[in-house]
Amino acid sequence: MEVVHYPVMHREVLENLPIPEGDSSILIDCTTGEGGHTSLFLEKHPSLSVIGIDRDSEIQKKAIERLSVYGERFHPVNAWFNDYLKEAPSDFADAILFDLGISMFHYVESERGFSFRTDEPLDMRLNSKSGMSAADIVNGYSEENLADVIYKYGEERYSRRIARAIVERRSEKAIESSAELAEIIRLAVPRDYRYGRIHPATRTFQALRIEVNSELDRITPALEEAMRVLKKGGRIAVITFHSLEDRKVKWFFKEEAARDDSRIRILTKKPIVPSEEEERENPPSRSAKLRVVEKI
Ligand SMILES: C[S@@+](CC[C@H](N)C(=O)[O-])C[C@H]1O[C@@H](n2cnc3c(N)ncnc32)[C@H](O)[C@@H]1O
Repeated sequence: MEVVHYPVMHREVLENLPIPEGDSSILIDCTTGEGGHTSLFLEKHPSLSVIGIDRDSEIQKKAIERLSVYGERFHPVNAWFNDYLKEAPSDFADAILFDLGISMFHYVESERGFSFRTDEPLDMRLNSKSGMSAADIVNGYSEENLADVIYKYGEERYSRRIARAIVERRSEKAIESSAELAEIIRLAVPRDYRYGRIHPATRTFQALRIEVNSELDRITPALEEAMRVLKKGGRIAVITFHSLEDRKVKWFFKEEAARDDSRIRILTKKPIVPSEEEERENPPSRSAKLRVVEKI
C-alpha cells in the first residue's frame, strides 16, 4: 500500500518557523521522512534551500523523488541527525525542524517489523545496514535487560511478565517475526489488559524501536548542536509523539533558558497541540506536541 505521510501540525510549524525572505536562507529538516514538511516550506519560501536529513535511505528515496521539482534547493543527507549537526558549521541555519520518531511508511510499507499488525521480519532498524536488529535484542538480551528496556522505553507495567515469556519462548526457538512476538506478548499479559484501549504489544514494540535506533539518546546532543548551528534570531521547532521524547526536549530547553548565559528564549511556554480538526482527520496526530525556541 502506498502511504503518504501527513505532515503533522504543518500550519503551526510553518507559522512558528518564519524564514527571512529575499535572501538565500537555509532550513535544516532533521527528520525529512517523505518530505511533507520540507515540500511545504520550499513551496512557501521561494529563496529557501533545505538540507534534508534522514537515516533511512528507503524513505529518503521517496523524498528525493517527490522534491526533485525543487532541484538544487533540496539537499538530501543520509545520516543520524545528531551526527550531521555535530559536523555542521556554526551560525548558518535560519531554522531547524525535528519531527521525531518514525513515519507511517515505516509501519505500513517498510516490511521491517515496526507493526504488530503484520507478519514481518523483526528488524526495526532505520539504518538497515548496521547495528542490532529487534530480533537480535529479543533473542540476545538477558531477561533482566529486556524487562528494563520494555519498562524504560515502553513504560510498560507488565515488562517483567513479557520479558519472561519472551525468554521462555526463545529457549525453544528463536523469535523471528513481528506477529510471533505480538502473540507472545498478548498471551503474557492479564486478560483485561489484552482487550484494553491499545493493543497489548504497542508499548513493547515502541520500546524495541527506541532501543534499536538509540532514539532517545540522540535528542539532547542534537539539540545542543542545533543551538550552535542556528543563526541568531533563528528558531528550532520540535514535534514529539510521546512523553519520553517530550520530557527530554522540555527539560533541555528549560535548563538552557534558565542559564545566566542562556542562548535561547522559549516561545511555547505550553506546547502547541494539534487542532480538533487535525485530530479528527489524522488520529495519530493526537499525541503530538510542538515546542519552539528562538536563539538570542
Ligand atoms: C515522523 S517522520 C518525519 C516525517 C516528515 N516530517 C514528513 O513530513 O514527511 C521521522 C523521520 O525521521 C527519521 N529519523 C528518526 N530519527 C532520526 C535520527 N535520529 N536521525 C535521522 N533521521 C531520523 C525517520 O527515518 C523518519 O523518516
